[in-house]
Amino acid sequence: MIQKINSLEEYQAAYQKSVAQPEAFWADQAESFTWRKKWDNVLEWNFREPSIKWFQGGKLNITENCLDRHLNERGDETALIWEANDPEEHFRKFTYRELYTKVCQFANVLKNNGAKKGDRICIYMPMVPELAIAVLACARIGAIHSVVFGGFSAQSIADRIQDAQCSMVITSDGGYRGTKEIQLKSVIDDALVQCPSVKRVIVLTRSRTPVSMIKGRDVWWEDEIKKVETLGMTECAAEEMDAEDMLFILYTSGSTGKPKGVVHTCGGYMVYSAYTFQNVFQYNPGEVHFCTADIGWITGHSYIVYGPLLSGATSLMFEGIPTWPDAGRFWDIVDKYKVNILYTAPTAIRSLMSFGLDPLKGKELSSLTKLGSVGEPINEEAWHWYDEHIGKKQCPITDTWWQTETGGIMIAPIAGITPTKPGYATLPLPGIQPILVDENGKEVQGNGVSGNLCIKFPWPGMLRTTYGDHERCRLNYFSTYENLYFTGDGCLRDEDGYYRITGRVDDVLNVSGHRIGTAEVENAINMYSDVIESAVVGYPHAVKGQGIYAFVICTPHLNDEELTRKDILMTVSRIIGPIAKPDKIQFVSGLPKTRSGKIMRRILRKIAEGDVSNLGDTSTLLDPQVVEEIKSGALLSV
Ligand code: WT7
Repeated sequence: MIQKINSLEEYQAAYQKSVAQPEAFWADQAESFTWRKKWDNVLEWNFREPSIKWFQGGKLNITENCLDRHLNERGDETALIWEANDPEEHFRKFTYRELYTKVCQFANVLKNNGAKKGDRICIYMPMVPELAIAVLACARIGAIHSVVFGGFSAQSIADRIQDAQCSMVITSDGGYRGTKEIQLKSVIDDALVQCPSVKRVIVLTRSRTPVSMIKGRDVWWEDEIKKVETLGMTECAAEEMDAEDMLFILYTSGSTGKPKGVVHTCGGYMVYSAYTFQNVFQYNPGEVHFCTADIGWITGHSYIVYGPLLSGATSLMFEGIPTWPDAGRFWDIVDKYKVNILYTAPTAIRSLMSFGLDPLKGKELSSLTKLGSVGEPINEEAWHWYDEHIGKKQCPITDTWWQTETGGIMIAPIAGITPTKPGYATLPLPGIQPILVDENGKEVQGNGVSGNLCIKFPWPGMLRTTYGDHERCRLNYFSTYENLYFTGDGCLRDEDGYYRITGRVDDVLNVSGHRIGTAEVENAINMYSDVIESAVVGYPHAVKGQGIYAFVICTPHLNDEELTRKDILMTVSRIIGPIAKPDKIQFVSGLPKTRSGKIMRRILRKIAEGDVSNLGDTSTLLDPQVVEEIKSGALLSV
């Protein structure tokens, strides 16, 4: 068993051991899994290249640990519960044995369709159980899954498929979110025009919307399952993987260029996602865990699929949105399935808060024992609302800081054990060695200080590379400060040594917990024919955390501003997806630039925030007059 932390003293002891003897510490955790062959070497690393290898020589398959290994002990216990978008639609439940069978069946489908170890497979699906099944089936045969969130556009999917040279896509005809029906297959068809590497598309039936099935390329999920059933293929031997073989790629935004494919590997990710799941949420056997994220994000990978299943837990997945049919939906789900652990995002909490307390009437919420928060800093008001109205002051809140790149939770209270402070992710988990540095890369020591958050020692769940471009990985994360992993976040360490994440210090936005690069949005806006140039910054938004503010220079003949705004929004939706649509578009005749042509975003950020009293030094600007114009036309908070 993974060593479970039961008290603050045990946390401190575990932490100390993890720093003094990291290899022994993580080897102990890794012992609890099923390995076909044990590792030869726990850790070999340098942050220079970087080269990070955990459990080298170890052989395993993560799905044997998620499924096979539970069959004797808890084969008939519930692994997965699924709640549909429509509350009238019947729920679905899978025991570990049922999930095992479904995964084996679909793994055989993948093989029958030519997929093999090492192939990259793109998964673009709604939040239905088959999404989790597809993920696990890929892992079973050693194919590398690249899940793309169902809200991304055809162009975004094409970029990701091309970057990873995927040979197969798994999708569905359509999907539901609230009152909306999403035409997933049609989006895939548009994407694939640009993707000759894709030889096969497997399409699940979900919404029965009309789709075009391309001969020789597209097949139905259900037909393929029937084939393997007729052949009696109910088992599928798991592919033997090296601990450092790739498990999955997940694309995420950075401050420059297109999203990069963060790579996670089999052994380390397995140990880390399970360790953090069991300890942070203090998971007890039999508890129902409800993580409200989409599997298209790392939170869903680690805390809907892998962490819970590795731990033999019951994981609940929900297809819909928190506000449909009404703002009581989460609470209905909690009561219906007696959810014990609820893990959601501050943006969802703030959105639900805005409906007042009516949606909570008649909801018990008495099954809840632990609450989690993830994705962005949680403001004190939301923290207290969550604590009072959802947790009834009986449930510890764990504010979990981590990233796509970290694979699992890094800094967070151990639920019910670490004393909490609203707004604070509190203390690092065992194995995590955070350090704060100033601009010059000098360590900021002691307490009551702030700086840029870095990590100075590897942990098993960390990224190994960015797919197809290792140099980009080095430049992005390991070159800013020598021998440190740089997170991109600013951070404060208070007098008690508690960590509070203050937000990104690079050009990355966090909109409703979704990570978006300003450069990406600018590139999309600039694609619109009437746009000459644009600059995008974030500004505080009451529900989304950050909103997107775009300053746009258009061609002189622009006459209908409102129509142009709509056209720009449409363009961004097409190029990236609706989540990247700017909240505000201000047309300007110039942008504040230095003499060397660099846009001074600091000034634009202040204007977007509505804080124009002190714009700092503008003397280095090429044309200080432009600032006056932008100031006077600023679109102030709604
Ligand atoms: C960025 C990572 C892995 C979680 C989902 C988002 C911000 C995440 C917190 C938190 C303050 C947080 C950071 C981080 N962030 N959790 N508890 N408190 N900020 O993953 O898309 O990779 O984004 O989200 O800025 O760098 P992601």
